[in-house]
Amino acid sequence: MADVSIRKYRNSDYDVVHSMFVEGMMEHLPASYSYLLKLPQLHLTVSLLLLVIFLATGSYLLTLATLALLLAGGWYEMKFEFCQYVSQSQKGDLLDIQTTYMMRSNSCFWVAESEGKVVGMVAAQPSEESEDEMVLRRLSVGRNHRMKGIAKVLCVKVIDFAGQCGYKSVMLHTSMVQYAAHKLYQRLGFERTAVEIVPSLFGRFSKFSIFTYRYRIKS
Ligand SMILES: CC(C)(COP(=O)(O)OP(=O)(O)OC[C@H]1O[C@@H](n2cnc3c(N)ncnc32)[C@H](O)[C@@H]1OP(=O)(O)O)[C@@H](O)C(=O)NCCC(=O)NCCS
Repeated sequence: MADVSIRKYRNSDYDVVHSMFVEGMMEHLPASYSYLLKLPQLHLTVSLLLLVIFLATGSYLLTLATLALLLAGGWYEMKFEFCQYVSQSQKGDLLDIQTTYMMRSNSCFWVAESEGKVVGMVAAQPSEESEDEMVLRRLSVGRNHRMKGIAKVLCVKVIDFAGQCGYKSVMLHTSMVQYAAHKLYQRLGFERTAVEIVPSLFGRFSKFSIFTYRYRIKS
């Protein structure tokens, strides 16, 4: 961690921050797909469908082709969900980080810099649901710079900022397959306070969940 410093976002960071966000999100696609493939309800539905096709056509080839089509369809559906989330985020707060985070007194966006390069990022914003709470958002660390404590320092930055602004807690959302993030938040003393199924057809079928973590600031 010796050569890493944390500083506020500048407009010249725009491209690297966007790519880091996209890469940090899209890397969870294989884990999400693998979660989907292990679901018993999916095994049952697919097995029944394949059985019906085999009994109706008597063709192994058609049955196997259907299986291949379903596997590819599952991958593209998952990818579509991820791309939609990424695109919504890029059209939302990430489109204009200066206005969303840097021009408001209780919000901020920081980057971690090492040897002149941006290697990590995080943002803080007041919660829309509770006036006592700050939200930690957009945490990501470049793949080649992980496991060096950079995310920990970025999270501590948000916790300190929230404390200085008078907030009582920091909350964040993360998906069930972001395993490294879960470890990180638990190590930092965040508690898991809610689990919510993604409110889409896919979410309800797969029980794909979003976890809420909270850190209570000691007064
Ligand atoms: C999650 C993420 C930010 C962690 O960044 P990082 O800089 O590697 O994390 P740190 O080095 O600060 O690790 C902090 C703690 O979490 C643990 N941890 C981090 N990644 C881990 C992993 N892949 N497996 C197990 N533990 C892990 C570390 O062991 C460390 O605990 P320690 O104090 O016992 O050593 C990074 O993996 C990432 O950017 N992922 C993609 C984007 C993402 O998922 N962001 C989270 C949004 S909610």
